[in-house]
Amino acid sequence: MSTAIIGGTGIGEILRKEGGEAVSVETAFGPFNALRHADGVIVVSRHGAGHKVPPHMVNYRALAAGLSSLGVETCLSTAAVGSVREEIAPGTLAVVTDFIDVSGRNITMFDEEVRHTDFSPGVSEDLVKRFLSAGIERTVVYACTNGPRYETPAEIRALRTLGADVVGMTMASEAVVMREVGIEYGCLAIVTNCAAGVSDKPLAHSEVTDMAQRVSARAVATLLACASP
Ligand code: HPA
Repeated sequence: MSTAIIGGTGIGEILRKEGGEAVSVETAFGPFNALRHADGVIVVSRHGAGHKVPPHMVNYRALAAGLSSLGVETCLSTAAVGSVREEIAPGTLAVVTDFIDVSGRNITMFDEEVRHTDFSPGVSEDLVKRFLSAGIERTVVYACTNGPRYETPAEIRALRTLGADVVGMTMASEAVVMREVGIEYGCLAIVTNCAAGVSDKPLAHSEVTDMAQRVSARAVATLLACASP
């Protein structure tokens, strides 16, 4: 059984720098590039080398098709998120147990055939358990916006009312395509900042990357432990 790790903001670059055998697949949705570590784990940097691909431009379908063609059955990811609730502080690592997709992206592997995929639960329960066993204590519901702009305070209030705990721009799209190709998917949320209005400071991307950097060692160790349980 093959496992993949998708590193998001701050983590993808660290995983990429660990090296590995380059793997390239030409999928029906475009090229897919990854690294294969010595233990067989496939590692992907979601935003590419040098963090150049913005969240709404990530080729999620090529990612799922590429991993599927490599025989990957389990995929663990990280996602930088803003906290929608005061009690969830920046620096927290949390397991995503479900998501609310308000991105408007409608990304699917099934544009050419009628297929309706079950999403209860929203993410793999086995992988949630794996993250909890690895010492992650907090669980969260993730709201996925399109970005690349950050949200307004009113949008964050609305997401809080809807039941979201954290907000980001990638996880739901990834969760959808992974489930559609039959890959078990789990996500470790890295709370990098208070979302708009939760803190009254303007949000800068550097705040997100700095905090992701600060907790990266724990996030990477957790991912690697969960990838080879
Ligand atoms: N909003 C959306 N995406 C994010 C945030 C945020 O506050 N922080 C990190 N990714």
